[in-house]
Amino acid sequence: MSHIMPLDSQPDEAIEQLLDAAFGTDRHGRTAYRIRDGMPWLPALSFAMIDADGALIGTLQSWPVALTQADGGQMPLIMVGPVAVDPAHQKGGHGRALMDAVVAAARAQRCEPLMMIGDPEYYGRFWGFTAQGTDGWDAPGPFEKRRLLALSVDGTAVGGVGMLAPRIAVAAQ
Ligand SMILES: CC(C)(COP(=O)(O)OP(=O)(O)OC[C@H]1O[C@@H](n2cnc3c(N)ncnc32)[C@H](O)[C@@H]1OP(=O)(O)O)[C@@H](O)C(=O)NCCC(=O)NCCS
Repeated sequence: MSHIMPLDSQPDEAIEQLLDAAFGTDRHGRTAYRIRDGMPWLPALSFAMIDADGALIGTLQSWPVALTQADGGQMPLIMVGPVAVDPAHQKGGHGRALMDAVVAAARAQRCEPLMMIGDPEYYGRFWGFTAQGTDGWDAPGPFEKRRLLALSVDGTAVGGVGMLAPRIAVAAQ
């Protein structure tokens, strides 16, 4: 049986290999990578899917980012992704299980709103991520507006105007 574990139980090389297999080795220039450039991923909101033999077959990372407003103020957000399942194990419910885990953990922690660049047909259908409220958001690279998604985990509305960027308070630590 496969099972979920905290991602920090896994070696960095295994995580990077899986991301290369799912997204290709040219993935680092993507807009999502620029939004969280230099940030460490958050161990309490990052998960691994492990198969019966102990191999890593799925990974989900979350990052501290923020909507940076014109006055320099930052509205903190959590960026979810990449969500990656090994191509040989896709469509087996692992992506759903990893996303269930992060949304449940975020709700339990009542953390900042979650955001991501992803397919609304997947992330909206199962978890309610929506582009409503992200209309005023910009990003440091190309993106499709319909794929810029957010989910509040504590009932507060998501909105605002600004540029998505790494979270300064974390970068300064
Ligand atoms: C996207 C991904 C994480 C989904 O994980 P998975 O384990 O393969 O998918 P699941 O088994 O959880 O999928 C459940 C359902 O969602 C659907 N689904 C999966 N990806 C989808 C997508 N991008 N858009 C719409 N529906 C999708 C599946 O068809 C399935 O539908 P069904 O239950 O009606 O048959 C995985 O396929 C993957 O790693 N893909 C390559 C990398 C990627 O694109 N990651 C997402 C961007 S961050």
